[in-house]
Amino acid sequence: MKTLILLAIFLASTASAQDVAQGRDVFQNHCATCHGTGARGDGPMADVLSVVPTDLTALAASNGGEFPTARVVRRVDGQREVLAHGGPMPLWGMILDGPAAVIVAPDGAEIVAPEAIVDVAAWLATVQR
Ligand code: HEC
Repeated sequence: MKTLILLAIFLASTASAQDVAQGRDVFQNHCATCHGTGARGDGPMADVLSVVPTDLTALAASNGGEFPTARVVRRVDGQREVLAHGGPMPLWGMILDGPAAVIVAPDGAEIVAPEAIVDVAAWLATVQR
């Protein structure tokens, strides 16, 4: 019971609103070199990468019109995933670490990730075509 109450407090204090403006800043500072300032996969580093950075403005379109927040957060965070293959896309969980935020995936699972990553996902959701 005590654990349950503590968990409830933890969730209440970490489930802050996603901060779109903050997310845009994080993106411009950490992601735009590869993905481009407009997130279209055309950053200055794109040419030298062996794998083309994903056009992140098309994620909703390729997901039946719904922005896949949970997938994006998991993918960018990466520290809780078991990766079978390494890829050119850095994992940001360690670098963008900080206060945790909780989001609920479509399947009802709660995903805990650094706030900065949840904010980036919130900003990306606003730039979908
Ligand atoms: C060094 C270049 C580089 C940087 C910096 C970078 N990415 Fe990527 N990213 C890639 C590449 C290349 C891919 C495509 C290959 C892959 O998925 O690994 C990718 C894929 C992704 C995907 C997967 C899209 C999908 O299909 O689900 C997401 C989401 C993403 N990046 C978000 C970000 C965010 C957010 C940041 C900043 C925190 C970032 N990336 C920084 C190179 C980069």
